[in-house]
Amino acid sequence: MVKKGTLLYGGKAKTVYKSERPGCLVMEFRDDITAFDGGKKAVMKGKGRYNCCVSAFFFQMLEEKGVPTHFIRMLDDHTLLVRALSMIPLEIIIRNIAAGSLVRNFPFTEGQKIDPPLVVIDLKDDSRHDPMLNDDLILALDIVTEEELRTIKEMALHINEIVQEFLSEKGIILVDFKLEFGRTEGGIVVGDEISMDSMRLWDANTRQSLDKDVYRFDKGDVIAVYREVARQITRGKCEV
Ligand code: C5P
Repeated sequence: MVKKGTLLYGGKAKTVYKSERPGCLVMEFRDDITAFDGGKKAVMKGKGRYNCCVSAFFFQMLEEKGVPTHFIRMLDDHTLLVRALSMIPLEIIIRNIAAGSLVRNFPFTEGQKIDPPLVVIDLKDDSRHDPMLNDDLILALDIVTEEELRTIKEMALHINEIVQEFLSEKGIILVDFKLEFGRTEGGIVVGDEISMDSMRLWDANTRQSLDKDVYRFDKGDVIAVYREVARQITRGKCEV
């Protein structure tokens, strides 16, 4: 068992530690759940485990399809061993259906199909409330090169195809989701998580929320929804 070392970073729902293995970090998914820039928060037993399992599942799926991620392996049911990345402070949001901030900020109708999918990029900066960027701003801020930006967008759209197809077979619509990327010596790699906290999922039949919107908008029993979604996605591969 790889032991966790000193604390590197404590986020709203995850904690990252150094590890005794060079170039590797320990990423712990906590039971904290937050929304609205941390304005709403709670602790929900089991939540870290469900998000960890689902993230590990998707990272493995992506690796098998040739998409590089930071995932190495699960250490326990709420902890991953990951490659240390130099994180790029961008939130890459891929949207297949209009919902959330897209509907609040632009004249789209909730539920409207977006074809081809939209890639929206926000600056990852809580103190500025993650403002939306455009390509010129991203380059002017010198966050990535033009080539890196092209790679990130291509990877994001490719991941969208893979995850969307997988979920649709389970009767789940991938409305939108957020990715984060980092650099390694070998190039750009997917980091962070792919979970019910970072995806917007709807039941294909009922259009009911199967993600953090259940918590954001008090739509029901958050843990029961996370448990059921994790069970469906991982086909019982992790004990949930
Ligand atoms: O709130 P908004 O509609 O912009 O969110 C789009 C998608 O990105 C949602 O799936 C949401 O969960 C995810 N997201 C995230 N972290 C953020 C902002 C959005 O995971 N800081």
